[in-house]
This record gives sequence, C-alpha cells and structure tokens, in this order.
Amino acid sequence: MSAPSTPLRLGIAGLGTVGIGVVKIIQAHADLLAARAGRPVQITAICARDRQRNRDADLSGYDWVDRATDLATREDVDVVVELIGGDEGIAKDTMELALDNGKDVVTANKALLAIHGQALAERAEAAGRVIRFEAAVAGGIPVIKTMTESLAGNRIRRVMGVMNGTCNYILTRMQSAGLPYETVFEEARQLGYLEADPTLDVGGIDASHKLAILSSIAFGTRVAFDGVEIEGIERVSIDDINRAADMGYRIKLLGVAQMTARGLEQRMSPCLVPADSPLGQLEGGTNMVVIEGDAVGQIVLRGAGAGEGPTASAVLSDIIEIARGVRMPVFGQPAAGLASPQPARTAVPAAYYLRLTLADKPGALAKVATVLGDGGISIDRMRQYGHESGEAPVLIVTHKTTPEAIEHAMEVLPRTGVITGEPVELRIEEV
Ligand code: HSE
Repeated sequence: MSAPSTPLRLGIAGLGTVGIGVVKIIQAHADLLAARAGRPVQITAICARDRQRNRDADLSGYDWVDRATDLATREDVDVVVELIGGDEGIAKDTMELALDNGKDVVTANKALLAIHGQALAERAEAAGRVIRFEAAVAGGIPVIKTMTESLAGNRIRRVMGVMNGTCNYILTRMQSAGLPYETVFEEARQLGYLEADPTLDVGGIDASHKLAILSSIAFGTRVAFDGVEIEGIERVSIDDINRAADMGYRIKLLGVAQMTARGLEQRMSPCLVPADSPLGQLEGGTNMVVIEGDAVGQIVLRGAGAGEGPTASAVLSDIIEIARGVRMPVFGQPAAGLASPQPARTAVPAAYYLRLTLADKPGALAKVATVLGDGGISIDRMRQYGHESGEAPVLIVTHKTTPEAIEHAMEVLPRTGVITGEPVELRIEEV
C-alpha cells in the first residue's frame, strides 16, 4: 500500500454529469480532501466518448485516453472511477481489467452491480482490490455506508424505499397538477429527467437494480436482481392518485425487501402509503430509504437521488474511503460467504386498495362483497362516488389479506357480470 503522503491517483472514465461533478469537487476542495484523506487526491487521466464537448470544467491538466480500458492498465492510476454506465460492454470491460491490473474501482453503476455483482465481487477479492459504489443507490444519500458500517451490528428486518426520482417526480406532479400520466411523462422527457431508455425509470428497472444491491447487503445474500418482482408506474392513473388521496394515501413506486421463512421477498411496485408518513410526504425527484434493524429500529434517510452534486458527493466519499486505506468487502461481507437466496413471491399480508366500476343496478355491490367474503377478504372501508351514465365507481380498502387472495379475487370479480372496466388493486404498505 502507498505511504500516507503519496497521492491517490485517479483515472476517470465517463465525463457526463456525474464525472464532471467529481472533477469539479476535486478541483474546488483539493485541500479539504487532502486533509481528510491524509494524502492528496489527484486526477491523472480521463476518458469520454466526445472530447470536443464543452464541459464547463478545466480538463487541461489531465491526460486524455482514447478508451476507458486504457485507464485500467496505466501505471499512474491507482483507482479507476467508472462513470460510463450500462451492464455490459465498455463499463464492465473497464472494471474487470482495472481489478485484474491491481486497481481499486469506484462506480455509480447500479445495473452492472445488480446483474454481475457477485462475479465482480469475487474478482475484486481474488485480486485484493475493492469496488465501492455509494453513488449507485439513491444518489447522494449515504445508504451503502449506513448499512455496511453504521448498522453492521443489526440483523436487518426490512429495507424499503423510493429510489427512482423520475418516477416520484411523475407521480407527485400528476397529483399536484391533476394531469394524466402521459402528459407528465412527456414533461419529464422535456426536462431531461428520463434515462435514454425510459423503461429503466418508469418500468421500475432502475429502482429494482438499487433494491437488489441493498438486499444483498441487508441479508448477506448474493445480489439477485432476477428475484425482484417488478411493476412500473405505467398503469397508475390520475383517478387512482385522486381516489387514494381521498382515502388518506399517496401512491409511490416503492421497493420492499425482506427475508421471510419462505425466502427473500423483493418487490418493486406502485403502492399506497399513508399521506402523513415520511414516504407519503416525499415530493418531486427526492429519494428516501427506510431501513429497519433489530437493535436500531427504523432509520429514514432522505435526499437527492440524482444530479451532478449529490451523485458526485457519493463518489467522493468512496474515493476518500480508499485514500484513507479503508478496505470494505463489496457487499459488506466476503463474497464467498454470501448465501444464494431463495427468491420468494410476496406473501406477507397487507391491506389493499381496490377500485372497481360497478354497473349501477340492484345487487351489484352484494356480488362484489360475496366474492371478497368467499375469498376470506374483509372490507375495512368503502366509498361510492357519484354515478356516471349507469356506472358507480367504488373504492374499497381491505383489512390485511394475502396477495394470493387478492389475485384470486381480481380473477373472479370480472366474472360476476357487474364490473365494467378493469378492476384496479394496489397494495397498501405499512411504513
Ligand atoms: N433515473 C434515475 C432516477 C437516476 O430518476 O432516479 C439515478 O439512478
């Protein structure tokens, strides 16, 4: 290992929003970082697809290389900072080559870790190197360090969170402006909030990558993105947002992971949460992660989940950690000791929100009540709205029941002949 006064030399791959944010912090806070790390932190070489782009930062002091993989083999680079993104291709090649060449790696790449995390962790440990990725989950929120360090003495019971700012922006904007999904989706696109492939955001995939990484750390299991039950926000309508609000709830794209006797449940889906809860009050592009430990109880972390400053702040925390000589196993414990999780479909009971449109005729509601009763589903609250052209919109909040019972009821209800349109069910998560 380097002597304490030896500079830590970085090769930065990717000069998009986050990469430039990292360069700016290193330039602006050089003294502060050196004092905290006990040694200077320097950028040696950089790489980006387009050299000519105006990046609003002075890059003249750094060597440009043509390919990110060139950074991985340079003698004068100790840490490769991978900010390219993507779960295959150049990002993966660069990371693997860096580890094989004795470099530590700092990355913001949640997709790569969610899909290849175990192999990369084993590779890093075989090479005696570290991979740090605070920026990969919930941007500026220090959730990885909170879980691997501050909560290391706890058995984690449950991790959940809103971890895609774009979806939270869309859902809260639909509510505040009373606009339909399609209109707000287009607004988000114009504002540049959406990933190049928007299904990563609105399809719940980006948030599921993050959830899978947190699950691994929380439960000491191999990262298992394939085991996440994923539903995005595309089917959330302004009607449901308004009706849920009437009943005292907000709709959030919520990730929940918990270890049960049946296995590891990981779910990303639109859920109702109480409007007055911390999650219910989360507005705009902000993220929130809730961690429950047996000793500590509940921890709530809230902050910016994306953007230049917040994400670069997280990257710098990893760089300083490495500069200080702190060596952390990738997922909080040696990769060989991570258990293979048994994926389980969600079975933990919850209350459910049902929105049905009934034919406005005698006995319609009785038929619905019979289906629910026969399925062992008990009604907690119910509200019927103004009748429109022979149809009666009805909202039901159930007592706690199993997802299986709800799925069955959703299959049977359309066969009663009294439901018009698609019945909607959304889980109500206790927070
Ligand atoms: N598209 C992501 C979000 C960016 O909206 O949260 C950070 O992963």
